[in-house]
Amino acid sequence: MTAEAIQYLKALLNWADEVEEKIRHNQPLASLEIWRKDFHQWKNDIEKMLEQHDQIPPGIVREFQHKGEQLVKEMANLLSPARNEDSSILPGQHVLPPLPYEYDALEPYISREIMKLHHSKHHKSYVEGLNQAEKMIHKWSKSKNHHMLRHWMREQSFNGSGHFLHTIFFSNMSPKGGGRPSGELFDRIERDFGSYDRFKKLFTEAAQSVQGNGWAMLVWELRSGRLAIHTTERHHMFALWDVIPLLVLDLWEHAYYIQYKTDRTTYINNWFHVVCWNNVSKRFAKAKKLKWQLA
Ligand SMILES: [Fe+2]
Repeated sequence: MTAEAIQYLKALLNWADEVEEKIRHNQPLASLEIWRKDFHQWKNDIEKMLEQHDQIPPGIVREFQHKGEQLVKEMANLLSPARNEDSSILPGQHVLPPLPYEYDALEPYISREIMKLHHSKHHKSYVEGLNQAEKMIHKWSKSKNHHMLRHWMREQSFNGSGHFLHTIFFSNMSPKGGGRPSGELFDRIERDFGSYDRFKKLFTEAAQSVQGNGWAMLVWELRSGRLAIHTTERHHMFALWDVIPLLVLDLWEHAYYIQYKTDRTTYINNWFHVVCWNNVSKRFAKAKKLKWQLA
């Protein structure tokens, strides 16, 4: 490593100390503690690299710089005045989250070209499509035009699932990835699938079984209290992943046909007389404890 690079990494460490000093007196948010761990890890990695400076891989300085910028953005987000328990993204205000690594960081497994297109074109267009659909639904007033509302609902689920799933997908990968999970996750996988190898085989075969476009997922089934593998073809069909339903209405014919025949509207109107808002409130109280990084 050149003297210039060593100097730069030392400057990064000095800057990191200044950042830490500035946020030392901030309130101890749980999410900031997680951030601190990542930040210390990043500092330790730089220190280790400086210790063994005769074996520095090429491009490492740029990687440390990129990670540092990423951490500062995350910290700014965590400490922004709008960030509190009630913070939310208004309809139509989603933004494309930055990739947590460079476009070429996953090579040779996934090429730079794919990552750039996937993130800057495909993911971006899902964010834009979701924003447009949410704005249209939010200001909806043409109460009789079910056809157009159906269109925007489909746009919301298609683009929303695209945005949310890609946000998970990109953060599920890392240039330092691979190997096996550890700790509680590993134990749970062994418990629910028999062994890690069985899980991996099933996940692989499930992924191969998807017809055309779709996704394979390892999910936590809240209702079963265990891990499971799911697949989805395309990614929506009017559902939106990464959300928790609070109030649901069965619109299959078996739910109303014997009594209401084809008059679904009356069924829907009457159904509101029996909604247990107390139950919905309880679900909401539990669900709102879980909030990912807003995106
Ligand atoms: Fe994709």
